[in-house]
Amino acid sequence: MRDGAFPEIRPRRLRTTPAIRRMVSETSVEPRQLVLPMFVAEGLTQPREISSMPGVVQHSRESARKAVAEAAELGLGGVMLFGVPEHKDATGTGAVADDGILNVAIRDARTEAGDALVVMSDLCLDEFTDHGHCGVLTADGRVDNDATLEIYAEMALAQARAGAHLLGPSGMMDGQVGVIRKALDGAGFTDTGVLAYAAKYASAFYGPFREAVSSSLEGDRRTYQQDPANGREALREVALDVAEGADMVMVKPAMGFLDVVASVRAAVDVPVAAYNISGEYSMVEAAAAKGWIDRDAAIAETLLSIRRAGADVVLTYWASEYAARLAH
Ligand code: PBG
Repeated sequence: MRDGAFPEIRPRRLRTTPAIRRMVSETSVEPRQLVLPMFVAEGLTQPREISSMPGVVQHSRESARKAVAEAAELGLGGVMLFGVPEHKDATGTGAVADDGILNVAIRDARTEAGDALVVMSDLCLDEFTDHGHCGVLTADGRVDNDATLEIYAEMALAQARAGAHLLGPSGMMDGQVGVIRKALDGAGFTDTGVLAYAAKYASAFYGPFREAVSSSLEGDRRTYQQDPANGREALREVALDVAEGADMVMVKPAMGFLDVVASVRAAVDVPVAAYNISGEYSMVEAAAAKGWIDRDAAIAETLLSIRRAGADVVLTYWASEYAARLAH
């Protein structure tokens, strides 16, 4: 400092005008980096609102096709499809049937958008089981890892036949990526990729998702999803998934786990995705509805922060809205 009184170095200079701030901005969010998660419900003729996620719906097949077309038009990276079957059972039969709602929705999305965006599908049983767990249960009610893997392999083939570009195993069963990769390769689906939910935490912020997929889960997923206390464990999960053949890895949730996003980004050279989940969406929407925060600014800051932490791709319920905003 000159004479000990005034600073010679003034970081504020680079913040003086919007143009200079824009020029030196380190991070951007582009439509191609955004993925829209979508819920498609069997038997609906009209989209149905999800009360805990204002602005998000369970789609009918028809409204889902429109949303996919719009997403492609907006230049989104892709869509992540979830199926909500009319009938659920203990083993999630609807997940492996070619006419199950998720597989039908994948076909619809490919018919609508072709290769204009990446069609991704959630590969997990919780939307399809009557108990709401991500796998099948043993006689004493525990989630049976290896019996579940056999069903995941069948699910992978059904989704690949339907035309999904990338499969998103999200059940956190040990070995799921390897089993899926092997099943795909064995059936000739060598170009179908795997976006592994590699580091997925047992989070309270999935709350609204339960309503979105009409889940009847009682209890929690702590025997298969990670403890939010653990950071290093995420690197172990990610390394395993990459070794098993994951083409991309995901960290989920995003906002409370930005340190994990950053450390995963530094540890691997495959693309890293982060999922800005239901509860993160609903918190911003609820606070904005009360007038407590500026909605548009909070959405922009949320997406930017996830990108800044190191995510190449962000799954967010605001994907289409945000891409439309960028276009103006
Ligand atoms: C499991 C799955 C979940 C989400 C995506 N895939 C629920 C869970 O693990 O409990 C949550 C997505 C969100 O909350 O937005 N199939």
